[in-house]
Amino acid sequence: MNTNIAFRTGKLVYLRTLLKSLHAETALKWMNDQEVTKYLMRVYPMTAREEEEWMDSQGRDPKNVALAIHTLDGDKFIGTIGLHAIDLINRNAVTGTVIGNKDYQGKGYGTDAKMLLLDFAFNELDLDVIMSKVLAFNGRSLAYGKKCGYEEVGRIPGWIRRQGARHDEVILTVTQERWQPLWEEYKKGL
Ligand SMILES: CC(C)(COP(=O)(O)OP(=O)(O)OC[C@H]1O[C@@H](n2cnc3c(N)ncnc32)[C@H](O)[C@@H]1OP(=O)(O)O)[C@@H](O)C(=O)NCCC(=O)NCCS
Repeated sequence: MNTNIAFRTGKLVYLRTLLKSLHAETALKWMNDQEVTKYLMRVYPMTAREEEEWMDSQGRDPKNVALAIHTLDGDKFIGTIGLHAIDLINRNAVTGTVIGNKDYQGKGYGTDAKMLLLDFAFNELDLDVIMSKVLAFNGRSLAYGKKCGYEEVGRIPGWIRRQGARHDEVILTVTQERWQPLWEEYKKGL
């Protein structure tokens, strides 16, 4: 692991800033992989230019923080995670995660990354509440969100259309108050 660059270090992963030369090519493959993007809001193909411009833009906007997820074991780049629409007045933000390397899905890496991001959101930025929107058929995302303290607070029936079928969009939130006891337990294992 390149410890010099780690922003947060967990049990299975560390989070670090995105670097075009290191991350853009792999992230571009994920963002054009239908098995990954079927769970995301974006359906259009992603071009290399868009991906690179997005990475270049990181660090310029204090309302958005996007990070690369690397495994502690083997230093493999497996996904990205972000805190978006950070609102320091209303003390809220939105999160999004992609474990793009499918070999690493469903093995606890997303949970570890999300707990680290929430540590930044709640303990560093002192936000009160974080939201995440999930497609109703994304059982894995709903499950890992709940492990991190999120609870369903709303649902928009049939909001999303995929391959001709309509799906609910599920709104989840986690408050600092609800998350902190989970973090106290979680960090014992760090
Ligand atoms: C959603 C995502 C970030 C979760 O990260 P992850 O590393 O795969 O999740 P974890 O392994 O930490 O946790 C997943 C949990 O869901 C459970 N799970 C797996 N598949 C499931 C399914 N189909 N239905 C319900 N639960 C499921 C797992 O058992 C695990 O719970 P457990 O640890 O109690 O056993 C990741 O799978 C991903 O990026 N998927 C593709 C893109 C995506 O969906 N992004 C999120 C958009 S909102």
